Amino acid sequence: MPEANPAAVSFLANRRSRPAKTLTTPVPTRDQLKDLLTIAARTPDHGKLEPWRFIVLETTALKRLAETIPHYCADLDPEKTAKLVAQFANADLAVAVIASPKPSEKIPEIEQTLSAGAVAMNLLSAALAAGWGANWLSGWISHHRPWREEHLNLAANEWIAGFIHIGTERMAPPERPRPDLSNIVTWVES
Ligand SMILES: Cc1cc2nc3c(=O)[nH]c(=O)nc-3n(C[C@H](O)[C@H](O)[C@H](O)COP(=O)(O)O)c2cc1C
Repeated sequence: MPEANPAAVSFLANRRSRPAKTLTTPVPTRDQLKDLLTIAARTPDHGKLEPWRFIVLETTALKRLAETIPHYCADLDPEKTAKLVAQFANADLAVAVIASPKPSEKIPEIEQTLSAGAVAMNLLSAALAAGWGANWLSGWISHHRPWREEHLNLAANEWIAGFIHIGTERMAPPERPRPDLSNIVTWVES
């Protein structure tokens, strides 16, 4: 039986995201981020297909992406557009976790998708465990195929599992309600 790790259990029991808009500098150095990405990639992956990859967006890239967004938002409420722009314009570091499914006769694409979500969760947890503030965001633009192909060079079969914003927290958010286990657990006795 593996040895109990009370610190890890306590971290997982209490972990929570820090809203991206409350994050500031400093952000992890490239070496620190490589450590977090190494942990993130240590994720269950049926068939060892590595159906995911990372795009690290540093400040200048984030500002450049922010400028592209209004061109895709002609039909969007201006307030929503401004919120999307701010997600990138005000950020100092975000990692785009890219779901990059591989052709496979054995591993269904949905399992590769789940693995990409697990990578994003692992990166979020690794960043929080290392003492950074972090937040998993998508935003409408992340599902916009022409935008992600033109500005993040995604292939046609790739998509964005999420942007993991990482930085220094200015304030810890209040706890939010958590699921009531009685609504989501079924015990099967026989
Ligand atoms: C795939 C995915 C996309 C998300 N996108 C957004 C988003 O665009 N905007 C937002 O406010 N929250 C978004 N969230 C929710 C945030 O991550 C939120 O802060 C999170 O639910 C906090 O969870 P925690 O307290 O358990 O860490 C997203 C969550 C997931 C899993």
